[in-house]
Amino acid sequence: AFVVTENCIRCKYTDCVEVCPVDCFHEGENMLVINPETCIDCGVCEPECPADAIVADSAEGARPWLEINRKYAAVWPAIAERIDPLGDAEDWNGRPDKMPLLSD
Ligand code: SF4
Ligand code: F3S
Repeated sequence: AFVVTENCIRCKYTDCVEVCPVDCFHEGENMLVINPETCIDCGVCEPECPADAIVADSAEGARPWLEINRKYAAVWPAIAERIDPLGDAEDWNGRPDKMPLLSD
């Protein structure tokens, strides 16, 4: 599966959701996640993210994010249409150590 990782936090551009053929994305307050059970590994969402936050779950460092994506996909509502990014997305894009800022 592909997974959403740290740099989505406080950006949430949502360009990714429009292209997913099987609507795997789920929306939290300041991040999206992919349901790894329904992701068909097509990879089309990965280049769409302006924050480069989407990676294959086999990528280096992706393992904790796989668990986070699995956990929140079960509780957050689905999102399949693009919405406005968070207001200060540009300021947060690329900042390090955003994992503790993830809102559930
Ligand atoms: Fe959806 Fe494909 Fe991205 Fe998986 S890899 S979340 S199926 S667009
Ligand atoms: Fe997040 Fe990138 Fe989608 S910032 S909402 S994974 S386009």
